[in-house]
Amino acid sequence: MANADFVKGLEGVIAAESSICFIDGHAGRLTYRGIDIQDLAEHSTFEETCYFLLFGNLPKQAELDAFKAELAAGSVVPDEVMALVRSLPKETTPMDALRTAVSALGSYDPDALDNSDAANVRKAVRLIGQVTTLTTSFDRIRKGLDPIAPRQDYTVAENFLYTLHGEAPHPSSARVFDVCLILHADHELNASTFAGRVIASTFTNESGVSAVHAAATGAIGALAGPLHGGANQRVMEMLLKIGDLDAVDAFIDDLFANKKKVMGFGHRVYRTIDPRATVLRSFAKKLGEDTGNSKWFEMCEKIEKLVSAKTSKPIYPNVDFFSGAVFYSMNVPIDIFTPIFACSRISGWMAHTVEQLRNNRLIRPLADYQGLEKMEYMPMAER
Ligand code: CMC
Repeated sequence: MANADFVKGLEGVIAAESSICFIDGHAGRLTYRGIDIQDLAEHSTFEETCYFLLFGNLPKQAELDAFKAELAAGSVVPDEVMALVRSLPKETTPMDALRTAVSALGSYDPDALDNSDAANVRKAVRLIGQVTTLTTSFDRIRKGLDPIAPRQDYTVAENFLYTLHGEAPHPSSARVFDVCLILHADHELNASTFAGRVIASTFTNESGVSAVHAAATGAIGALAGPLHGGANQRVMEMLLKIGDLDAVDAFIDDLFANKKKVMGFGHRVYRTIDPRATVLRSFAKKLGEDTGNSKWFEMCEKIEKLVSAKTSKPIYPNVDFFSGAVFYSMNVPIDIFTPIFACSRISGWMAHTVEQLRNNRLIRPLADYQGLEKMEYMPMAER
């Protein structure tokens, strides 16, 4: 009983107007507010990219300095939320812990009940810092270690590595990580961003609940799935399961024979290689050489060749394919890979939430009803 045209998975459907991110899936082009991702990866920093996404212009030096200070100050997580994180079972997945903690942050934020535009931006900046603090703190807490307070003079990338490992990061590692954060920061109406925008669209200024925290919580829930951000963890698990370069052929043959998907491949929008994967490929190669272990990179390259040979469909590596080998080479636990995506994508989610609320209209589509047209209610005793 169709009310209107139905497109499964909303493929090709335009569901929002936005000035934040553009993807040309055929050309393999990705821009944030008009600037190519390769240029941002080469010249920008995550902090500058966050500012750019949120405010729409590249900051002058004084603006960037003030933003960095606000971000660093905002990265502190209230003791009450840290106590909640400590109380979670150690087996909680890091994405579940992050989602729970971000939801709780909404109760302690000084602007919690203020959904004005200025308050939304202040909350957004705090959340960008806090998601990193929560991610690394949970990892330490579950290992029986004390969380490390983020340093106010460190960037988000430096603080991630410092508060995860407990030692000052090497500048080259911090820069690689910084670029990874830039690459993951936004991606138009991906599932988690769309989820966040839908949630934000139900709010008004007088809501009495923090729209920003609600949107971020829902977006984290959506990111966790293996078809979305959860794929980076699954890629590394696949590489570890394969174990060796010689075992790659049989493994990929088996996946295709059983019509299973290769994690880290394919995309709803790209019909060629994801431009982020190209940058991440170079990092995976370089880190393999630097650490004297190129095995994971070589396996990735072999998988890429095999997938390309086995299908005529446009299935190319996406952002999650090479990032696994990159994060693994940096000694990041595998189940922290998807939270890294969140540490970065929180900037895009926040830019989209603020944009949605500035020109809001409730997002409420229709369903193509497939059920019975009419059914009589049957009393309990007669069933
Ligand atoms: N391996 C093997 N075959 C694939 C793959 C893959 N990774 N991806 C798509 N295909 C095939 C699929 O089987 C289907 O074939 P057929 O038409 O014969 O049924 C065809 O290509 C179209 O696939 P689809 O699943 O209908 O396409 P979609 O646009 O709904 O899905 C996707 C996109 C990303 C969910 C899918 O490619 C996938 O499941 N990839 C693996 C998971 C993954 O890497 N996810 C990360 C996505 S990018 C970053 C992010 O969003 O976090």
